[in-house]
Amino acid sequence: MSNPAQPAPGTVLCRLDALRDPGARGFIFREGEALFMGFVTRRGEAVKGWIDRCPHAGMPLAVVPDRYLTREGDLILCASHGALFRPDDGLCVGGPCAGRPLWPWPVRIADGVVVTA
Ligand code: FES
Repeated sequence: MSNPAQPAPGTVLCRLDALRDPGARGFIFREGEALFMGFVTRRGEAVKGWIDRCPHAGMPLAVVPDRYLTREGDLILCASHGALFRPDDGLCVGGPCAGRPLWPWPVRIADGVVVTA
């Protein structure tokens, strides 16, 4: 299912050094009536992107802006009902959607900048 609001490959999101390590940041794009919500997570020099929709009930994961990680920063947390996801592959390892993954949003780093891939 394509979303017309999903940014084209090469869209600049932020500088890598603007992300905490570990850290995360959400992004919202709008195109007419369509809305695309995604977030990126950083661990060291690695960045991954995810669509901001929980596989449990379809809610955005963070209720506080950019708060996608647990306090320890080792897992992605859905604040609605507590699902926990591994940041390396997005797999839910605890909570109501255990065994189901987040949908990936491909991103890459180019010259110290996080861009969509
Ligand atoms: S919507 Fe994420 S745990 Fe329920």
